Amino acid sequence: MSLLSIEKINSGYGEIQVLLDISMHIHDGEVVSIIGANGAGKSTLLKTISGLIVPEAGSIQFDGETISGMSPDEIVNRALIHVPEGRRLFSLMSVYENLEMGAYSKRAESNFKENLQAVYQLFPRLQEREKQLAGTLSGGEQQMVAIGRGIMAQPRVLMLDEPSLGLAPVLKTDIFAAIKKIADEFGTTIVLVEQDVVNSLAISDRAYVMEQGQVVIEGTSAELMDDPQIKKAFLGL
Ligand SMILES: Nc1ncnc2c1ncn2[C@@H]1O[C@H](COP(=O)(O)OP(=O)(O)OP(=O)(O)O)[C@@H](O)[C@H]1O
Ligand SMILES: [Mg+2]
Repeated sequence: MSLLSIEKINSGYGEIQVLLDISMHIHDGEVVSIIGANGAGKSTLLKTISGLIVPEAGSIQFDGETISGMSPDEIVNRALIHVPEGRRLFSLMSVYENLEMGAYSKRAESNFKENLQAVYQLFPRLQEREKQLAGTLSGGEQQMVAIGRGIMAQPRVLMLDEPSLGLAPVLKTDIFAAIKKIADEFGTTIVLVEQDVVNSLAISDRAYVMEQGQVVIEGTSAELMDDPQIKKAFLGL
């Protein structure tokens, strides 16, 4: 059975309909990539799952419960955590204080120390820079804080919106390796929205390709890497 089921979702912004009849099924412990060009609706999908946008039609089930229609708070309390596009750190707060902000559910509060250790084990750099203001970190370090803040919420599902955006190739490699580690070591289910198709297929089990608000291709990541359409559209082959 799926941990997260998206059933025939229509969603958008007022009159503007972005997602059309989207269905996806994500199983416990999987890493699933969602790839697609700019404007395909990837961020709108994550916003709809996390309750920031209420879908006009369809339903979303998480762990056997209907979550579509719930508030973002209620969804966060179920450990479905969204790390939004563009990092959104508190730039005048320290690394530590930013991480602290992630731990606002009761469960996350009571496991604060263990979760912080997990973040520092994953990103030793953040421990070294614990007291530094987030706004003065490099782009890669800021992305580590954004992901770390998500881990502080002790997610069952971690949804990452373009974590590698704007990073130098060597830093991208580090971020993708860290995401893989989160899945492998903590057993966290990961929904990975990315435009870096090569790296995201390399660390994911399955993938969905979105185009103009619809799912156009789905399959295992290995299948998609060999798909001529994917090669042509995303890999420049
Ligand atoms: N707040 C908004 N109000 C109106 N339209 C919006 C809003 N946010 C996004 N859109 C539109 O919805 C469509 C999908 O946007 P979305 O941000 O979901 O795409 P995306 O796949 O995440 O793209 P990118 O890769 O550039 O982040 C776009 O046409 C965009 O202009
Ligand atoms: Mg986006």
